[in-house]
Amino acid sequence: MKINSEDCKILDNIKMSEDGYVITLKTVKFKDKFSPGNFLQLRCSEENTVLRRPFSILEETDGHIKLYFKVVGRGTRRLSNRKSGETVNIIAPLGNSFTVLAKKRVLLIGGGCGISPLLNLSFFLSKKQSIVDALFGFRNEQDYPKMIVENRKRELNNLWITLDETNKKEYNEGTTIDYLKKINIDMYDAFYCCGPVKMMEKLSDILKGKWAQVSLEARMGCGIGICYGCSIKTTTGSRRVCSDGPVFNLNEVIWDEF
Ligand SMILES: Cc1cc2nc3c(=O)[nH]c(=O)nc-3n(C[C@H](O)[C@H](O)[C@H](O)COP(=O)(O)OP(=O)(O)OC[C@H]3O[C@@H](n4cnc5c(N)ncnc54)[C@H](O)[C@@H]3O)c2cc1C
Ligand code: FES
Repeated sequence: MKINSEDCKILDNIKMSEDGYVITLKTVKFKDKFSPGNFLQLRCSEENTVLRRPFSILEETDGHIKLYFKVVGRGTRRLSNRKSGETVNIIAPLGNSFTVLAKKRVLLIGGGCGISPLLNLSFFLSKKQSIVDALFGFRNEQDYPKMIVENRKRELNNLWITLDETNKKEYNEGTTIDYLKKINIDMYDAFYCCGPVKMMEKLSDILKGKWAQVSLEARMGCGIGICYGCSIKTTTGSRRVCSDGPVFNLNEVIWDEF
């Protein structure tokens, strides 16, 4: 198997929320090579982090790759400390991609850093003249990367933000699942989802029988289909998130065994 890697220069690494950063990398090799839903594997630091870490693409324009990542452990903490001018090695582009529907009315449903592949997708959907609404949920205002989302508003027809707790009118209190119950979901032709497993599991009940795709996050080893460390159960048997996914039909995933 041919592995495509590149040492990419860090252009900037900016804090966007309580524990979220947007890192921008310069690529020559992977310019215009990403489809929406693809991900990359990145070596967070040149020293102790043996395993690479997988991240979705928030945006790739003109050879500038943007990733939105949250600090959850050792690798992402090291990545948050990387400075502009340094280089990081990436393997890309990895995984399958979303089906970009043309001239449809679609709803994006995202939680936390799950908004990243969905915002990337919104660009491709709007280019194909689909009408895109977005429902994004966060824990609280500090967790909401407002600048990232506001920058992409031109691609969104409606944008609803939920926060678990808030008293501000511009937000909706509760979860994305709570807010979804207020929306007439029958007006949508398709749904694209990414976020915490608990949220996806509930969505698979609500959206049963609908056209819906989900981008999954699983613990990964190799990231290229060799180690089977990211296997999940689906209605069509065992599948690898890294190479058969990360995009699956929402109803094909067996959530009890995730
Ligand atoms: C296809 C794909 C795309 C992803 N895209 C993004 C993204 O755009 N932005 C982002 O912030 N994160 C994304 N992730 C998750 C990201 O890879 C993990 O947060 C990261 O690997 C954690 O590394 P760490 O060394 O900091 O944490 P570790 O020390 O390895 O783990 C710390 C904690 O995070 C949990 N964790 C570790 N890896 C994952 C994982 N893959 N999924 C869920 N929880 C995990 C662990 O269970 C543990 O509780 C993606 C994962 C996949 C598989
Ligand atoms: S992470 Fe190795 S097969 Fe998916």
